[in-house]
Amino acid sequence: MTSPAARPDFPTFLPPGSASVQWCAACGAEWPERHAAPQCATCGGLLEARHAAPAHVDGTPLTGAALRASFAQHCCARPLGHPSGVWRFAEIVMPSVVVPAVSDNHARDTIVSWPEGNTALLQRRAISQYVGVDALWVKHEGMNPTGSFKDRGMTVGTTQAVRVGASAVACASTGNTSAALAAYAAQAGLPALVFVPTGQVALGKLTQTLAYGARTLLVRGDFDDCLRLVQDASRELGIYLLNSINPWRLEGQKTIVFELLQQLGWDAPDWIVLPAGNLGNTAAFGKALREAHALGLIDRVPRIASVQAAGAAPFAASFADGFRTRTRVQAETLATAIRIGDPASHDRAVDAITFSDGCVLSVSDEEILAAKRVIDAAGVGCEPASAASIAGARALVRDGRMRAGDRVVAVLTGHVLKDPGILVRMHQDAAFPSAPPNAPIEIDASVSAVAAVLADDARRRAMTAHD
Ligand code: F0G
Repeated sequence: MTSPAARPDFPTFLPPGSASVQWCAACGAEWPERHAAPQCATCGGLLEARHAAPAHVDGTPLTGAALRASFAQHCCARPLGHPSGVWRFAEIVMPSVVVPAVSDNHARDTIVSWPEGNTALLQRRAISQYVGVDALWVKHEGMNPTGSFKDRGMTVGTTQAVRVGASAVACASTGNTSAALAAYAAQAGLPALVFVPTGQVALGKLTQTLAYGARTLLVRGDFDDCLRLVQDASRELGIYLLNSINPWRLEGQKTIVFELLQQLGWDAPDWIVLPAGNLGNTAAFGKALREAHALGLIDRVPRIASVQAAGAAPFAASFADGFRTRTRVQAETLATAIRIGDPASHDRAVDAITFSDGCVLSVSDEEILAAKRVIDAAGVGCEPASAASIAGARALVRDGRMRAGDRVVAVLTGHVLKDPGILVRMHQDAAFPSAPPNAPIEIDASVSAVAAVLADDARRRAMTAHD
């Protein structure tokens, strides 16, 4: 148990024209942008990318309005646009990279992009009613190319891997990071090595990783063991580490926030709610909001609510203790994506919650499944961990911290097909605690058999109406 160290001072943006740096939030050391070690070579602390304030060619900083107009212009429009929801924000993600315009067929290989991002911001009455908030938007990051938000971080991380001349890339993962890494490494032509906890990765994620060609190591241990192992292995074997401790991953993940703010016309919501595991995304959201506010893109800061599964809630325990202690637990939850007991980005996530006057809470597996059922039945769908954001928002309304009139964005982090195993259990295993199931019905190949099913359904509906 340790108290988070006070962060040394460092400006949110450097003077116009400065080269980006990688800054150690633990000891204050600065490393050049293309320094290849993903952690501070002095103290082992986590690094953050810091960029020059975006400016006109004469060096005058861009106003928030000018920057908003520039982002709008990059939004796929020819000739200046790019079809990625990450690289549209290149000025504040990786300014030194030359992002090719849509019309430029020759410069495409300066970045490793699928493209990714540009995910939908949805409103669905059934989900709003379940949460108890009218103005609820769902930002569906499962609509990314490999089915999770990890693609946003991986496009930037892999681009950096190529820039530093990496010979191979690696990550530890509960499944989604490894799927994204495998896809982007394949595109970049880099060998990829992934470390996943054996027996704990959802089928969709594991099979994606195999399909995209990454070497997949099933480690006898949990995610926290995998992360320790990959850190040691990458240090000793010179493999470029692409977990979310890598600062460039977070630069890409910041764009979830920039994009949702842009979709809301830069009228910031009251809350942004997200599921939390290793805390990379919570940290990225905090950095995005700090920067968006400093640049005048928004005039007030939404509160971040990080939601953990009750069996894997070390950050929620630390929050309850006023962040005086850093808690570690032996994690257990059926939301395997967030089955993490010792989150690596703890300190920078503390900063995100503190800066945004946010909060951290936990929800039970039963609450996660109940929320997933509502999201799935609305025709939206998500993997179990993602449903923690909706379960968390509902809990915040119930305990009075979130009001029915608040404007809320809940992030769904992964696609419904990521975890087919849980769907089979939910809908075909009578003993599974999430009734009512929707089991498939085997019939003879006859219209009368179809008519019998319809009649049975009508009878059931009539009985429910009378209850
Ligand atoms: N939701 C999903 C679907 C995830 O896959 C993850 C993390 C999270 C939420 C939590 O994000 O770790 O930044 O707090 N998945 C990682 C992985 C750990 O390996 O795919 P976080």
